[in-house]
Amino acid sequence: MTSDVRPSEVARVVVGVGGGIAAYKSCELVRRFTESGHDVTVVPTAAALEFVGAATWAALSGKPVAADVWTDVHEVPHVRIGQEADLVVVAPATADLMARAAHGLADDLLTNTLLTARCPVVFAPAMHTEMWEHAATRANVATLRSRGAVVVEPAEGRLTGADSGKGRLPEPDELFQVATDLLARGERGQDLAGRHVVVSAGGTREYLDPVRFLGNRSSGRQGYALARAAVARGAEVTLVSANVSLPDPAGVKVVHVETTAELRDAVVPAAASADAVVMAAAPADYRPTTTSESKIKKAADGSAPGLALTQNPDILHEIASQRARPGSVVVGFAAETGDDSGTVLDLARDKLARKGCDLLVVNDVSGGAVFGSADNQAVILAADGAAVDVPRGSKAALAHVIWDQVVRRFDS
Ligand code: CTP
Repeated sequence: MTSDVRPSEVARVVVGVGGGIAAYKSCELVRRFTESGHDVTVVPTAAALEFVGAATWAALSGKPVAADVWTDVHEVPHVRIGQEADLVVVAPATADLMARAAHGLADDLLTNTLLTARCPVVFAPAMHTEMWEHAATRANVATLRSRGAVVVEPAEGRLTGADSGKGRLPEPDELFQVATDLLARGERGQDLAGRHVVVSAGGTREYLDPVRFLGNRSSGRQGYALARAAVARGAEVTLVSANVSLPDPAGVKVVHVETTAELRDAVVPAAASADAVVMAAAPADYRPTTTSESKIKKAADGSAPGLALTQNPDILHEIASQRARPGSVVVGFAAETGDDSGTVLDLARDKLARKGCDLLVVNDVSGGAVFGSADNQAVILAADGAAVDVPRGSKAALAHVIWDQVVRRFDS
């Protein structure tokens, strides 16, 4: 087994496929791994082969495919595949397959592989809502998580047939992100396992009328990177998303909101049971004092309408000052430009004290830097006086440094 594999290096990835209709989506996942240069072995169950044939998996992975332990016995595949793997991703993971894995059964090649693998293992469940919510499945998921497996929460939406609910396989691109994040972390592992974290992302809209709003330039990328990184580290994640045009990250409970009031109504109750809250969203500080129910018409005399504004609640301050959970860690963001009253860091230190949070991630946005870009650069200021410089890098990399700082505060 190799460890600490970086995503740019070739990793040995096993894609286990359970017998559910979502097996067809895993074709795309296998493709993403092979196109990224990884060495992929597909291990379907016999039931999975009822949905997608062995020829498809063999063509996509470039390797022979078997579901049983009797093919090529001289190569001892039932132990070799698991032992050599850097990552195992089971997608879709059916209720039956997770039950067999939780109980240590070894009645086909995939369950043998799961018993011999010592690398990170991800289960991406897909099933009908009733099966996902059944006490037996809940217990099996809890067992798998307690042993260190990452079981991502299923997405909500259309299921097989006409019904919809929780139980969809997350999109292959999102699963790929979770998987590559895990590979990049190697053996540093699941340090957020058992923790519930809340992340807010995006920019709120404050409506003047049904078609016009006051908004801001936040893209939500940093918040989404934080949510993804927390999933890869084993957390239960609630993401409150304001007007973000990115796909829902795999394994995350996403609450979509528009206004600062809605953001507050979603974040404050979720924060009550959270070990950490990261306010990466840019909530508007003001809203129009009145919102017209009909579209505001242009005045015939050429005059402009007045705009009366009312201050919105400060969500970060509220959460930090009324901590429902002792020992929880509250993180704020500050996009600063610096002005006559102080430098970016002077203003940020004041803000950290004023908001009462434990950590403040400070971005210098002079000249419109950061917004919408894939990169970020920041200083993380701590209430205890510490400051961590994070050089320019991906928003995913910054997300991991922020969680590192949060975890250090849990431990202390
Ligand atoms: N924030 C919040 N509620 C608001 C405004 C901001 O929770 N109504 C949070 C943001 O999510 C961010 C932090 O506060 O984590 C700092 O946001 P910022 O807009 O820089 O703070 P403000 O208090 O609005 O300060 P400024 O006067 O510099 O705009």
